[in-house]
Amino acid sequence: MIVAVDGPTASGKGTIAAAIARHLGLPHLDTGLLYRAVGWTVREHGGDPDDPADAAAATAFDPSLLSDERLRGEDAGSLASRVSVHPEVRDALFARQRAFATQPGGAVLDGRDIGTVIAPDATVKLFVTASASERARRRWMELKGRGVAATLAEVERDIARRDARDIGRPDAPLKPAADAFVLDTTPFGRDDAIRAALDIVEAARRS
Ligand code: DC
Repeated sequence: MIVAVDGPTASGKGTIAAAIARHLGLPHLDTGLLYRAVGWTVREHGGDPDDPADAAAATAFDPSLLSDERLRGEDAGSLASRVSVHPEVRDALFARQRAFATQPGGAVLDGRDIGTVIAPDATVKLFVTASASERARRRWMELKGRGVAATLAEVERDIARRDARDIGRPDAPLKPAADAFVLDTTPFGRDDAIRAALDIVEAARRS
């Protein structure tokens, strides 16, 4: 069974995808990390993330980078959003994601285009979202918890920029697949959001 979990920045899709994977005993791929590794590598090489050739060259990144904590920071997220607009980058990362999705037994993947491009044949597709102000509030709390200094207004501006880029790009823009369940977690805490997602997965498994 393939479970596709898509959604915008700070929607909680990563936490939800990890919980679904644990519940089903399936491997989980956070595809955003691949784009983060590309963005990080471009910068390490002194390249320009907005240049398609520089970004495409960085898709041959060192795999050990994927466990580097620095990839989880805001910096890497913003670089990832910039390199992810290039079709050359998306094409280069496609086979790896597709192979993960189609492995025997199944898998859970989270990202922006899993239900639309990587696994349009997924058994269950979830589109996890929340209002921009709630996502900014959650991200700001998380940053504060990690001791990162940022104002709520800065985080709101960054989320708006990332949303505009992810939704507005011509190639594989962020949008719910026609057959996705849209889960708006704005009013939910973490546990309720996970519960709602697991209910959707279980209902889909039974049907
Ligand atoms: O999910 P994340 O915040 O780690 O993703 C970082 C960026 O990577 C996001 O702004 C857009 C890009 N991305 C993408 O284009 N397609 C994916 N499947 C996953 C991430």
